[in-house]
Amino acid sequence: MKIGIVEKPGVLKIAERDVPRVQNSTDVLIKVKRVGICGSDIHIFHGKNPFAVYPRVWGHEFVGEVVETGSGVKTVTKGTHVVVEPIVFCGTCYACRQGRGNICESLKVMGVHIDGGCQEYIVVSEANVHILPDSLPWDEAVLIEPFTIGAQACYRGNVQKGDFVLVMGAGTIGLTALQMTKLAGATVIVTDLVPEKLAYAKTRGADYIINAKEENLFEKVREITGGMGSNVTIDAVCNKKSFEDCIEITSAAGRVVELSFNESPSEIAPVNIIKKELTICGSRLQTKRFPVVIDYLKQGKLPLTGFVTKTYPIEQMVEAFEYVDANSASVRKVVITMPGI
Ligand SMILES: NC(=O)c1ccc[n+]([C@@H]2O[C@H](COP(=O)([O-])OP(=O)(O)OC[C@H]3O[C@@H](n4cnc5c(N)ncnc54)[C@H](O)[C@@H]3O)[C@@H](O)[C@H]2O)c1
Ligand SMILES: [Zn+2]
Ligand SMILES: [Zn+2]
Repeated sequence: MKIGIVEKPGVLKIAERDVPRVQNSTDVLIKVKRVGICGSDIHIFHGKNPFAVYPRVWGHEFVGEVVETGSGVKTVTKGTHVVVEPIVFCGTCYACRQGRGNICESLKVMGVHIDGGCQEYIVVSEANVHILPDSLPWDEAVLIEPFTIGAQACYRGNVQKGDFVLVMGAGTIGLTALQMTKLAGATVIVTDLVPEKLAYAKTRGADYIINAKEENLFEKVREITGGMGSNVTIDAVCNKKSFEDCIEITSAAGRVVELSFNESPSEIAPVNIIKKELTICGSRLQTKRFPVVIDYLKQGKLPLTGFVTKTYPIEQMVEAFEYVDANSASVRKVVITMPGI
């Protein structure tokens, strides 16, 4: 079978490998249908993801059809459409005992620490699959994982009906946070520097858009919120300054949700946190968000039209990565189609 592998930083290849076999009673063999390319896959390709271990079959956003199951598998059978939850955790460390396997001490993310979904067939544990309706197109199903990131940001920020939420950045992740916070009943303001991204955010339900290159973000947010500031600010720009801006712009009793893996320190005066009693939290991957996103899709509440910008067959995987690299200002999601459609 074909696999897409980053052999070492800068070396991305299509290679051949034997089809994996069901070995444990809880194993599920999946024929992969679609794999989404994420910003972090591009980072792995360029050697800029601090967690990646090489060589690595990339891909943590993937969906497919079950072709074989171990003897103890109860929830899925041959033919079931599934999305794979790409995290593996120990279940016993402190975070896992709190139900937060996404930040497990020995967390392994498929496509990062262990091999991922860019292969024609993959074996995963039954615990890692979520059932999809057969009617859900693969090109939409492959977006479930990125939407769980937005869902997690919404959950971590404890977004309430009627809250003003500021989503910083209308890139892929910002857009997923926008749609999930709208579904939670918030009024959502989105900021970016690129007019096309803001225009698309508007079609996805943004109540207000602010081009931070042309307008004063702080003044605009204050104007929209009656001087209060945003109750929840989600940082999907993820640079040194955006974190500082989040602290500044968030209202008293507000929440700041940080998504950045950035290692450069931001400068934040503690007084600006305590005077407003801000809750600042990290949001990493997701925990228990797959069922939430799948339910919204089943109810027809999560329109995904136009989210996938381009698809490429596996044979053109390298071109697909080059396309994402060269068009980062306009790409929302590029998807690889595996053989057999
Ligand atoms: N914590 C997590 O679980 C998690 C998961 C996925 C991605 N991320 C992180 O989220 C970040 C965003 O990912 P993405 O795929 O959406 O990236 P992206 O590049 O598609 O989006 C970033 C957006 O920010 C905009 N932007 C840049 N500077 C800005 C500014 N000063 N003001 C307003 N907008 C500005 C860009 O135009 C772009 O639209 C990345 O840093 C990524 O590492 C975190
Ligand atoms: Zn991703
Ligand atoms: Zn653990």
